[in-house]
Amino acid sequence: MDQENRSESLYRNRPDGSPLGGVNRGGNVRRTKGVCTIAIDTPLPRQDAYGAIAMPVYHTAAYEFKTAKDMADAFCGRVVAPDYSRMMNPTVMHLEDTVRALTDAANVFAFGTGMAAITNALLAVVEAGKNIVTSNHLFGNTVGLMKNTLGRLGVETRMVNLLDLEAVEAAIDEGTACLFLEIVTNPQMEVADLAALSDIAHRHGVPLIADTTIIPFTEFSAKALGVDIEVVSSTKYISGGATSLGGLVIDYGHFLQVGVRIRSELIFNVGCYMTPHAAYMQSLGLETLEARYRVQSANALALARKLRGVPEIKRVNYIGLEDNPFYALARRQFGETSGAMLTIDLADKRACFHFIDHLRLIRRATNLFDNKSLAIHPYSTIFGPFSRSQKEAMDVKDTTIRLSVGLEDVEDIFADIVQAVESLP
Ligand SMILES: Cc1ncc(COP(=O)(O)O)c(C=O)c1O
Repeated sequence: MDQENRSESLYRNRPDGSPLGGVNRGGNVRRTKGVCTIAIDTPLPRQDAYGAIAMPVYHTAAYEFKTAKDMADAFCGRVVAPDYSRMMNPTVMHLEDTVRALTDAANVFAFGTGMAAITNALLAVVEAGKNIVTSNHLFGNTVGLMKNTLGRLGVETRMVNLLDLEAVEAAIDEGTACLFLEIVTNPQMEVADLAALSDIAHRHGVPLIADTTIIPFTEFSAKALGVDIEVVSSTKYISGGATSLGGLVIDYGHFLQVGVRIRSELIFNVGCYMTPHAAYMQSLGLETLEARYRVQSANALALARKLRGVPEIKRVNYIGLEDNPFYALARRQFGETSGAMLTIDLADKRACFHFIDHLRLIRRATNLFDNKSLAIHPYSTIFGPFSRSQKEAMDVKDTTIRLSVGLEDVEDIFADIVQAVESLP
């Protein structure tokens, strides 16, 4: 099957039984129930002694066993039973189970932050002398992790333009440990063609690792589009109101060593498993994810459309706008929603700072997908430590403001932006 037909057959299917009937999600999602039902109704690992409806928070470091043999079986992985909360905790396992049910994954691992999830996924595939092929558009700390932290350990990072498929293929060689990308980059808002890039990775026998933080995994199937391992900052959409930090590795089991290394080596030795309290809050967040996401992505689309009529705003970059260069690809991959992040460009950096300083409703804050709308000037903050030429190479411009659109009434978000731009000198 050629590339186009293969993609077409993946994209055309819709999940059966969606509780939001008519909602078009991307990819071929195999679920027996709708995402809202699974998020709310995934069974607890064990019946709670009191019949608690919410997963209790097991704030305990260790667990007692009935016999020495039971203990030995748990320690040696012959039975799945928590022995020590650095590696396994019932509250965290419930979150992992729910995400596994939502994504049809082989393994899900929950970590303390999104960066910890990315670190674990990469440590499962790299070794000294190997290289990572990735985009020249990446989250700043991911660049730092690859170039500085892993670079010091002898791992090379090759950054290429992911829109140039020939350049991607040319960068991969026998030393390549993985192809790593973000499905939608920020602040550039570039969309990766997952089916095409996974074909290239798989031709060379390397896994495709995708950071899918920007569009929730309830909306599309990364697996059906050829992704082998998803990494997610669950601090964002999932935590629900930015209550907690967290990260997920969603492993589809295509490259067996990934799950094995994380479960039997990295969780033990690196020690950044999610805490039970964070898992409790993130399980609650997951229950309302779909409801929140629907409003936030609709707000983002309505806002992007309105902002195009504001003369002081030079550019509105949102992949849900029909004339965005990535609109068709984003729709095929992600379905009918386009996330809750957009950028606007003003005349210059001074205008951006003035605008941000005059916001009254939208918060001057980093983070994404809080219930509250947030604004940040990525050039001087997230990418602040990078040199001018590095920022130029990454297409991070000093005229750009990133907006994370929240759950407030869209008219009020719009009015706040208009009053801030109208105050420009
Ligand atoms: C795309 C992306 N990946 C990963 C991260 C890191 O996540 P965390 O802050 O949970 O470590 C972020 C954080 O902003 C992000 O935007």
